[in-house]
Amino acid sequence: MQKEMSSINRNSWNKDRYQIWLNRFGSIEQEAQRILNDPRKRLKVLADYLGEVMNKRIINLLGSNGTKAVSVALMGAKEVKVVDIANENAKFGYDLANACNVEIEYIVQDVMELDTEQLGEFDIVFLEMGVLHYIYDIEKLFTIVNRLLSKGGRFVLREYHPVIWKLLKAENGQFVASGNYFDQSVDGEEMKLRRWTLGEVITSLVKAGLTVEALHEESGSIQRWVFNEMPEGTEDRIPGIYAVIATK
Ligand SMILES: C[S@@+](CC[C@H](N)C(=O)[O-])C[C@H]1O[C@@H](n2cnc3c(N)ncnc32)[C@H](O)[C@@H]1O
Repeated sequence: MQKEMSSINRNSWNKDRYQIWLNRFGSIEQEAQRILNDPRKRLKVLADYLGEVMNKRIINLLGSNGTKAVSVALMGAKEVKVVDIANENAKFGYDLANACNVEIEYIVQDVMELDTEQLGEFDIVFLEMGVLHYIYDIEKLFTIVNRLLSKGGRFVLREYHPVIWKLLKAENGQFVASGNYFDQSVDGEEMKLRRWTLGEVITSLVKAGLTVEALHEESGSIQRWVFNEMPEGTEDRIPGIYAVIATK
């Protein structure tokens, strides 16, 4: 199942992706300047979850266009790698890193097929925002994370909350609980996705041998963009994003 999901999702992520990023960011130079102005600000709350990055070995799984990787490189990380399945993302990430005059390295591969022995160990592994639904077996993914971490290393997962991802839908400017929180199906046309509950995520992390230190459910204006079609105030009452900090 993972191979089938990854093949469909890879095609979809490669389709015109470089141009999509240019349309979103204006140009490589403009996005580079935004990051150079204040790399920590570009990471937003993720910077607090990551903790001190100076002189750390860091790997960003499913790291997409590299904006977060370039930011941590500018903040003084010793080594920064990105794993992503799409060439188009790597091309954008390398151009961005060049424009910011920092080094990052892409491993363009399915994360589930990583050669962890060859990659070695990292002080920080992070994975964020629209990622777990590409994975069919998250316990296996977290076992890979465990292998990538050095003893005492930190894993940061920041992700859309399943209450938003699986349960609530916007209808006429209101949230309606029309989804099924416990749905386990893999669905989608252009992308094949499996959406995970919070219970499945935490249980899988623990089964993979990681120690969960904190689970933050975010509220307030920081997540306003997740709720962009929602009535004022919704972001203060409903979690749209969660973050798990785990250690090895
Ligand atoms: C929504 S993006 C993640 C957001 C990203 N952290 C950011 O800040 O822009 C999801 C990424 O996962 C990648 N991806 C999907 N399935 C993957 C897989 N099996 N292995 C590695 N990367 C994958 C896609 O190419 C895409 O870049």
